[in-house]
Amino acid sequence: MIRAGILGYGYMGHVHTQKIAPIAGIDVFSVHDIDPAKKAEAGKAGYSFFADRTLFLAQADLDLVIIATPNQFHRDYAIEALRAGKHVICEKPVTLNTDELDAILAAARESGKIFTVHQNRRWDTDYLMLRQIIADGTLGRPVAVESRVLGERGIVFGWRADPAYGGGMLYDWGVHQVDQILQLFPDRKVTRVFAQLWSVNTLQVDDYFKLELVFNDQCSAHVECGVFALEKLPRWFVYGSSGTLKIDDFSAKSGRISKINNQYTVEVSEGVDPVVGSSRTMAPLRPEQIQHVPLPAPVDAANAFYENIVLACQDPDQLAVKPDSVRRTMQVIDAAFASARARQSIDVLI
Ligand SMILES: NC(=O)c1ccc[n+]([C@@H]2O[C@H](COP(=O)([O-])OP(=O)(O)OC[C@H]3O[C@@H](n4cnc5c(N)ncnc54)[C@H](O)[C@@H]3O)[C@@H](O)[C@H]2O)c1
Repeated sequence: MIRAGILGYGYMGHVHTQKIAPIAGIDVFSVHDIDPAKKAEAGKAGYSFFADRTLFLAQADLDLVIIATPNQFHRDYAIEALRAGKHVICEKPVTLNTDELDAILAAARESGKIFTVHQNRRWDTDYLMLRQIIADGTLGRPVAVESRVLGERGIVFGWRADPAYGGGMLYDWGVHQVDQILQLFPDRKVTRVFAQLWSVNTLQVDDYFKLELVFNDQCSAHVECGVFALEKLPRWFVYGSSGTLKIDDFSAKSGRISKINNQYTVEVSEGVDPVVGSSRTMAPLRPEQIQHVPLPAPVDAANAFYENIVLACQDPDQLAVKPDSVRRTMQVIDAAFASARARQSIDVLI
């Protein structure tokens, strides 16, 4: 049994306890938070509560620390926990830049303990479906992948609205979205990054960003996130060499794969199209020339992250979210901030 403790018992700290509850082989028993009001909450849930981080980390029977504080504490607390001889799961964004992550990775190597990051969105239903469809080759060569997360409330709240805490949407959602894209193409290199970070309705941090990642083999990704969009665009759109995919939302219950119906030949259009007007290139196909294939059945992998932790604590080679993969994401995030500051694209090899 892995005995786990939560460092930072806020929204995500609670989510961890709820998600770990049904997992065999791991149990949360202890909590640390600087907010004294969390003591009563922890007690109600049956966890021991520590107001002092050093005492929390000194517990001999604590095997694994889950760090769920605001972002700017992640580096120091991860290093402290590793030096205290604990395995560590850190919330995303793992750190505010790659240099900070490297300091953690050095401590992890010295400690011999597992260090990983809660990149839980690698197991989202919509993302697993996207991966499967791309891997199946149904779309041919994926030339452009578009990932959008567009919320409606327009509110960036609490520490997320404060740059001193690592606020803003690039750190919040961008790390998930970039991580997903990089996991799609582990063997490709990102060669160029262009980022636009805007503070639209929030004063100090980005509440809208648009990121272009160009890969080394005529493939690119568009990653976009904003908190105030009252119309929908698909969560995923893929332009492939032999088909097009759209997955509408996180549930992955709506969307489709579209391909040419091989029973029909596609020829250059003649004349003036009633809708498009005088373009033969953009004149649409006849409905029967396109085959729309429904999405496959969604897969639920909600427990996969924590089940992997249980496995990896016995055999570290099995760790799913490897530090190197997270480091690659942080390098892209660093390049995105640099690009936004310079207002130009940045050449990289990541
Ligand atoms: N993986 C995901 O899907 C996901 C989702 C939401 C949040 N997160 C991440 O989880 C982390 C926490 O976000 P949240 O939404 O739960 O924030 P939150 O504000 O709800 O909770 C943060 C908690 O940390 C405590 N805290 C603050 N400073 C502390 C300190 N110095 N020492 C100890 N405790 C401290 C606060 O009192 C609070 O209880 C962030 O890194 C965020 O990016 C991840």
